[in-house]
Amino acid sequence: MKVFLFLALMLSSYSYAQSEHDSQGGIQKNSGHHNEMHGGDHHEMGGTMHGSHHKLDKITLKHFFEPLPASIIDEKKNAALIALGKKLYLDPRLSVNNTISCNSCHQLNNFGVDSQPTSPGHEGKRGGRNSPTTLNAALHIAQFWDGRAKDVEEQALGPILNPIEMGMAKDVDVVGKLKKIDEYKTMFAEAFKDEKDPILYVNIGKAIGAFERTLLTPSRFDDFLKGDENALNDTEKRGLQKFISMGCANCHNGVAIGGNSYKKIGLVVPYETKDLGRFEITGLETDKKVFKVPSLRNITKTGPYFHDGSVATLDEAIEEMAEHQLGRKVEPEFVADVKAFLGSLTGKVQK
Ligand code: HEC
Ligand code: HEC
Repeated sequence: MKVFLFLALMLSSYSYAQSEHDSQGGIQKNSGHHNEMHGGDHHEMGGTMHGSHHKLDKITLKHFFEPLPASIIDEKKNAALIALGKKLYLDPRLSVNNTISCNSCHQLNNFGVDSQPTSPGHEGKRGGRNSPTTLNAALHIAQFWDGRAKDVEEQALGPILNPIEMGMAKDVDVVGKLKKIDEYKTMFAEAFKDEKDPILYVNIGKAIGAFERTLLTPSRFDDFLKGDENALNDTEKRGLQKFISMGCANCHNGVAIGGNSYKKIGLVVPYETKDLGRFEITGLETDKKVFKVPSLRNITKTGPYFHDGSVATLDEAIEEMAEHQLGRKVEPEFVADVKAFLGSLTGKVQK
C-alpha cells in the first residue's frame, strides 16, 4: 500500500521526476525505506496526488513535515532551572583548566556550532567527529551522531568528563568545584527546591538539558507549513519539490527535517569513512556506518558537514547525498534550488 502510494506520488505529482532520466531506478533503490517515511495518513494520499503538478499540496507536506511547536518545555514554570542551565552551558569552570565551556564548541551566537571540521578540547586535542548544533537538538530521537545518549539531559554529562573535551576527572570533582561558588549554591537551591543537597552531578545535566529545550529556531518554512504560501519564494518552493521528489525527504523529515531515524551513509553508493557509527554502540553488522540522520534546520549556517566535518560546502554535501544515498548524479541547478529551500530552514531570530 505505502509503496503504491509513494509511486503515485513520484509519478503523478512532479513533472520534475518525469523529466529526469532514471526516475524508476531512483524509486526502486528507495523502496526498502518507505516503511520509515514519516507520519501522515496514508489512506488520504492517493487521490489528492493527481493533477498537482507544480503545486506543493498540503497533504504531501503534512506527510513529510511538521512545524516546530511553540515550545517543548514550560519556560515559566522552569525559569530557575533554565537560567541555571544557561549559566552552566556558558561556564568554562566546568572544564579542568577553566578554558572550555559547552559554548566553545556549540556557540549560541553562531547557530550552535564552532564552524570547524572537528573541535579542539581543553588541551587543543580534537576528537574524530564534527560538533553538531545544539539548536533544536532536544527534538532528536537521541543524541550524538550515533545516538548513544538518550536525551539532552543525559548527553550534557558526557563532555564534562570527556578527557579530550572538558577533561574533568570525576563527577565528584565537578560537584566539589561548583559547591565552592556561591552563585551556584543559590541557583541550584532555586532550581531544585525540594532537594536537600541540590548540587548533584545529575542535576547539572537536568539544568543544561532544560536550557537546551528552549533552543528552538522557528523559520520561514514553519510559516509556510502553517499556511503562509508567501513565506517561501519560487526558487525555494522548487527546491522543496525537488527535495521531496528526489527522495531526500524520505530520511530528512519530521519536525526537525531529520533527527528522527538512523541511516547508513553510502546506502546506494558506498561512502569512504573509518567511523563505523552506531556499530560501535550496538555491535550489529547492519549498523556499520549508520548514523543519526542529521536535522537540516539552520543547515546553511552549520558547516562543515557530515560526521567527520570532511565536507566543506553545502553544495558538496547535497551532491554527495544525492550520489551516495540515492544513486543520482545531480545538476548544479538541482543543487542551487535545494540549497535555496534549505536556506528557508534558518531560524528567524537567534536567542
Ligand atoms: C570540545 C568540543 C565540545 C564541547 C566542549 C562540548 N561538545 Fe557537545 N559535541 C561535540 C562533538 C564533537 C559532538 C558529537 C560527538 C559524537 O557524536 O560522538 C557533540 C555532541 C553534542 C550534542 C548532540 C547533538 C546531536 O545532534 O546529536 C549535544 C546536545 C551537545 N554536544 C551538547 C553539549 C553540551 C551541553 C556541552 C557542555 C556540557 C558540550 N556539548 C560540550 C563537541 C563538544
Ligand atoms: C537514506 C537516507 C538519506 C537520504 C535519502 C538523504 N540523506 Fe542526507 N543524510 C543522511 C545521513 C545518515 C546523514 C549523515 C551522514 C554522515 O555524516 O555520515 C546525512 C547528512 C546530510 C547533510 C549534512 C548534515 C550535517 O549536519 O552535516 C545534508 C546537508 C543532507 N544530508 C542533505 C540531503 C539531501 C539534500 C538529500 C537528497 C539529495 C539527502 N540528504 C538524502 C541520510 C540521508
